[in-house]
Amino acid sequence: MGKFYISTPIYYVNDNPHLGHAYCTILADFFARYHRLKGDETFFLTGTDEHGQKVQKTAEKEGLSPKELADKVVLRYKELWSKLDISYNDFIRTTDDRHTKGVLKILDKMVEKGDIYKGSYEGPYCVSCESFFPEKDIVDGKCPDFGHPVTVLKEESYFFRLSKYEKPLLDFYSSNPDFVLPQGRMNEVKSFVEGGLKDLSITRTSIHWGIKFSEDEKHVLYVWLDALSNYITALGFGSEKDDLFKKFWPCDIHLIGKDILRFHAVYWPAFLMSAGLPLPKHIFGHGWWMKDQSKMSKSLGNVVDPNPLIEEFSSDVLRYFLLREKPIGTDGSFSDEGFIDRLNADLANDLGNLTSRLLALLEQQFQGKVSEGDGSLKETALKQLEEYHKAMENFAPKEALEIVWSFISTLNKHLVEREPWAKPRTKESEDTLSEVARALRLISLQIAPAMPHAAGTIVKSLGFAPSTFKTFSWDEKQETRAYRISNLFPRIDKKEYFKELESKKDKTVEQGKKENNENHEQKTISIDYFRTIELKAGKIIHAERVPKSNKLIKLIVDFGSENRQIVAGIGKKYSPEELVGKTCPFVFNLEPAKLMGVESNGMILAGNLDGEPILLQFLEEVPPGSKIT
Ligand code: MSP
Repeated sequence: MGKFYISTPIYYVNDNPHLGHAYCTILADFFARYHRLKGDETFFLTGTDEHGQKVQKTAEKEGLSPKELADKVVLRYKELWSKLDISYNDFIRTTDDRHTKGVLKILDKMVEKGDIYKGSYEGPYCVSCESFFPEKDIVDGKCPDFGHPVTVLKEESYFFRLSKYEKPLLDFYSSNPDFVLPQGRMNEVKSFVEGGLKDLSITRTSIHWGIKFSEDEKHVLYVWLDALSNYITALGFGSEKDDLFKKFWPCDIHLIGKDILRFHAVYWPAFLMSAGLPLPKHIFGHGWWMKDQSKMSKSLGNVVDPNPLIEEFSSDVLRYFLLREKPIGTDGSFSDEGFIDRLNADLANDLGNLTSRLLALLEQQFQGKVSEGDGSLKETALKQLEEYHKAMENFAPKEALEIVWSFISTLNKHLVEREPWAKPRTKESEDTLSEVARALRLISLQIAPAMPHAAGTIVKSLGFAPSTFKTFSWDEKQETRAYRISNLFPRIDKKEYFKELESKKDKTVEQGKKENNENHEQKTISIDYFRTIELKAGKIIHAERVPKSNKLIKLIVDFGSENRQIVAGIGKKYSPEELVGKTCPFVFNLEPAKLMGVESNGMILAGNLDGEPILLQFLEEVPPGSKIT
């Protein structure tokens, strides 16, 4: 029995959780459950990253304080984790007091080491947004958020002597070649460090939402120093109650997405070296779930919401699909079709059929009795179990599940070959069915980290005592009584399913049309006709009055793929300044027109109050260019 500590990244609270976030957390839960089953004392940490400019800005847009926004989004994360049966031991929030205390303690140690000094940070600065932006985000001298002009500015900042750790990091990588996994990613990290490390600016005076640097309170800590520290502050580092830190640090594996590898494999170990603390054992950079060839992200509008999938198919099915469908290290593309195919093939057919066939035969022929069996499957079972353990230790969920499924298919074949249905109530049939039942008990254990509900149901239906559900071994002693259960994974008729999805959509449209007809005497239009009008969300990035008009305002509107000039008659009600940054609905395919000599390529939509136009806004942020349907 050993110890195992696994963490997920802490998620930003400027975004609702999507399938990509769920993936990383499911992976961590999968390994945590496996280690618990093995008897390891396990600590599984997740949480939220709540400070910094991104959160501050989203909160401003939503008219909330950053903490109010965080409280709202944290609930969505916790709700989703509970629906997905995520068995975390702790949920850390970077706004927790315990976290702040721990971070300041780490920083104290870095200061003591002489690794922090005061200097100045120079970079592109947007006066309107009051913030610095990374050089790479500046397009045509404009800030990425609102297209305001930026200037290069200097700001006082404290720096961390990252350059000092270049050599120690390279030495560490050489003596720990599997520090970063998968292996290929270790090389990426090494070459980055070999390219030279510059000292890192770790405070800002232009950001207000964050942990204040105790030595100089007008400075707020860089969000990554704050965030990375969660892995030890959650264990009580820096407080009197630090038994968890003593027990579980260093962490066995920080599971993260490949996009945040550098922070974890370069900065974090350097911070820890500076603070005189041991380094984590592994950093695993997993691949992404993509949709339509791109990484899911709120700004691209291509996120998959896991909630409807859980509601329709169960958390077990979604967990299994995500773990089994693609190798952990590479990217995979999500499709509804792939999802249904996987469910039907692996769950309804292979596992579902094996279970229901076996339980039915046991009941029909032996009133459910599972006897000792003849040991004929034991060797194969233990051999695949060994392979499975290897895959699990190598952090390879897809491969581990493939091993189990290959065994499931062996068992299905075994039944076909032995034909117990043709030899009812014979000793041979009893042995065959009892052997398969024992093998299926073991399989349940092996799939429990992926599908805790299904696994528990199968073991119970086979009549094995819950206590046997903890040992990865061939249980030959217990005689049990199995009982039939309803179909674990009903097969989905793909055609029907997609037809139903379509008809759900059509029904909503029909319903709307009907209501429209009932409510209005006037002439109606068909949905097809309505669809000829292209409506899109556009973000106003520039606004100015049309000379000599008190009503017209010339807008430059960002539609994602292009910026357009649109003239709007809203100047009596709104000033250009208050329009910049707003995302509103527009008619996109209106023929161009000239208003007081200024060309307009579209039309803003507005309500009406006492003859004045009132602009419309979205309840949630939508990306520029997204269609309004
Ligand atoms: N807050 C930082 C992490 C700090 S850890 C000390 C952060 N947060 S995040 O919310 O943007 O992303 C969290 C994790 O979700 C990252 O590991 C990221 O790779 C993962 N994913 C976000 N979208 C993803 C997919 N589409 N697919 C798989 N995982 C992806 O970064």
